[in-house]
Amino acid sequence: MFDLTGKRALVTGSGQGVGAGIARALARAGATVAINDLKEERARAVVDSIEQAGGRAVVAVFDVGDYAAVESGIAAVEQAIGPLDILVNNAGIPQGMSVQPFRESDPEAWRPYVDVNLYGVMNCSRAVINGMCERGAGRIVTISSGAGTVGLNLGVSPYAAGKGGGISFMRHLALENARSGVTANTVAIGLIDNHTDPNVTAHMAKQVPVGRLGQPEDIAALCLYLVSDEASWMTGQTLELNGGSVTT
Ligand SMILES: NC(=O)c1ccc[n+]([C@@H]2O[C@H](COP(=O)([O-])OP(=O)(O)OC[C@H]3O[C@@H](n4cnc5c(N)ncnc54)[C@H](O)[C@@H]3O)[C@@H](O)[C@H]2O)c1
Repeated sequence: MFDLTGKRALVTGSGQGVGAGIARALARAGATVAINDLKEERARAVVDSIEQAGGRAVVAVFDVGDYAAVESGIAAVEQAIGPLDILVNNAGIPQGMSVQPFRESDPEAWRPYVDVNLYGVMNCSRAVINGMCERGAGRIVTISSGAGTVGLNLGVSPYAAGKGGGISFMRHLALENARSGVTANTVAIGLIDNHTDPNVTAHMAKQVPVGRLGQPEDIAALCLYLVSDEASWMTGQTLELNGGSVTT
């Protein structure tokens, strides 16, 4: 099950963290994976690790928030490895970057969160959807956040709005294309272990019902199912994956 031999995938923001974990899992399952990131050295390191493990991967440096860059970046990927079967919209500005109550916030501060977390998802999806529909098959998965599905009193409204917009967009994309063999789903993830300060990690882990932060492999396992041929009846869904932090 979940064999991706012969499939071609793009994972955005996969130069580190969750995206790198997803990319490695797809490569282990047989896919050729394009490793997108803003930072070439990060993407190169992930490509090297996949190749050392016997997989196939290419570097794809572009800013998902810039449609022209996305269009030419994806065209270059497809030229190199062939038409994309799988898109994982993982690039995002995570929640920790700036925390500010809305009443104190500068409206301009919203822009990067919306550019990456919403426009980034839209731009990449727009660049692949027609090809997938014409070929009669495709898998689009967006990595979102519990902040996009529930309200939080944490000062993360721009992030949450961008993430929530991505969730809503995925539902519409799924239903507009449900008869074309293309599925679109969202994984709304909880707190991930970013391997920063061990004291912070231990403190945050206490907030998670199962008692630990998520690892990239936790997210990759669900993505592997969602992008597989076996998941053809799964579309338009938002799946919470968070160690029990948010239950629906
Ligand atoms: N870390 C968490 O606790 C957490 C929680 C909920 C949701 N998420 C979501 O999971 C996803 C991955 O998070 P992470 O913690 O692995 O993030 P991360 O910051 O560790 O890695 C993200 C990668 O994306 C790249 N990137 C950022 N902007 C980009 C752009 N415009 N174009 C291309 N690449 C870009 C970065 O250079 C970085 O390498 C994000 O969408 C994030 O919002 C993370």
